[in-house]
Amino acid sequence: MMRTFDMVHSPAMDGPRPPGACRGRGIRLWCPGCQGRTGVARGGRRMAGGVCPLRPARRTLHPCGPGPSGVIPGASVLPDPPLWSPPMLPIPSGWFCIGASETLPRHAVRPLRFAGQDRVLFRTASGEAVLMEAYCPHLGAHMGHGGTVEGETLRCPFHGFRFDGSGACTATEYGQRPPRVRAGTVPLDEQDGLLFAWHGSRGEAPGWHLPPTGQGSWTAIRLHEIPLSTHPQEIAENSVDVGHLRAVHGYESVQEREPLRTDGPNLEARYRFRRRLEPTGRLGRLTVTIDIHQWGLGCAMVDTHVAPMGLRLRNYVLAMPEDASRTLLRIGLRVALPEVRGPVRGAADLAMRLVRDASFPGYVHDVMQDAPIWNHKVFEPRPALARGDGPIAEYRRWTEQFYPDPAVVRGTAPSEAAE
Ligand code: FES
Ligand SMILES: [Fe+2]
Repeated sequence: MMRTFDMVHSPAMDGPRPPGACRGRGIRLWCPGCQGRTGVARGGRRMAGGVCPLRPARRTLHPCGPGPSGVIPGASVLPDPPLWSPPMLPIPSGWFCIGASETLPRHAVRPLRFAGQDRVLFRTASGEAVLMEAYCPHLGAHMGHGGTVEGETLRCPFHGFRFDGSGACTATEYGQRPPRVRAGTVPLDEQDGLLFAWHGSRGEAPGWHLPPTGQGSWTAIRLHEIPLSTHPQEIAENSVDVGHLRAVHGYESVQEREPLRTDGPNLEARYRFRRRLEPTGRLGRLTVTIDIHQWGLGCAMVDTHVAPMGLRLRNYVLAMPEDASRTLLRIGLRVALPEVRGPVRGAADLAMRLVRDASFPGYVHDVMQDAPIWNHKVFEPRPALARGDGPIAEYRRWTEQFYPDPAVVRGTAPSEAAE
């Protein structure tokens, strides 16, 4: 089933807001189709008939069928993502995971919605991954639908023009010199079996890079995808939201082991808590310590130590903004390998993969407890914080660096107030 979105709500024009609509505090509203490029939906003004004038084809959003990864125990608790919620904040700068490397073999071509734009992702014959504007500069065909890789170029399905990894048009099929045009490309990074794309909210080039996280003695990563109607800011905020660890996840005796630390685009938080071994708690409880390493608002790695078992897990929380109000969340898991060499190494790797796969449904279950709240909440720029919440205010100040106007996090951006 597909759903359509409602018109953007304007308190001035439409009266009291319906649940989940604009809160009337000057939060910028964008059409989900054009992300504000038409300007028609800015400031809560009405879109005629609920249809974006630039991208009417994007009127239907969010397929509500089963997720792309099939059924995982615990995953079925997620209700359909809501229709479409008003975008809360602009898309922040940073690196965002756009998928596993193995899902993009040589010669593969994929359409991708990333950071409010339609893109085409492909891998050339030599193995270079490229993320490019989807619409051909010639006559606008979507190259993610029918485009093919030829050597180091992408061939447009409409008239056969070819574009190299820099986006430059290198050939036509007319026997003439190609036009001097270039499709825009997005910086990519590929490491530890994952593909990351850069988004610069001010159009800036990457100013920092992600560290490798999968090297050394870890199993391969297992991933699961969860489509959400939320923003990376909200997903990352749960890393410091101490109160929700008990209220949503049922963790007990939650302690901050060290104060929150921030350094440029990096944030670190460390906690200890007790959790039930299984939902009823009849089989007992475990003490768990976690070290959260967050890079920008898109990438978090959580090193988890389950002391009584000596088990070390590396959890990933990878948020990819499709638009300002829709995020494809990828969660991943690796398990530490024992320090063994020689012929038993293969057996140890296999055993730890089994441990990873046995642990994975529990991880998915925990994240799915957050999902309904993310899907239905609004971003509250002036939260009524209470003692015990955790370092949310400090987190919010750290996040300001990722936006073109830091004041959007506080809901006091001058451009919004003027609208
Ligand atoms: S539209 Fe792409 S080659 Fe003509
Ligand atoms: Fe959570």
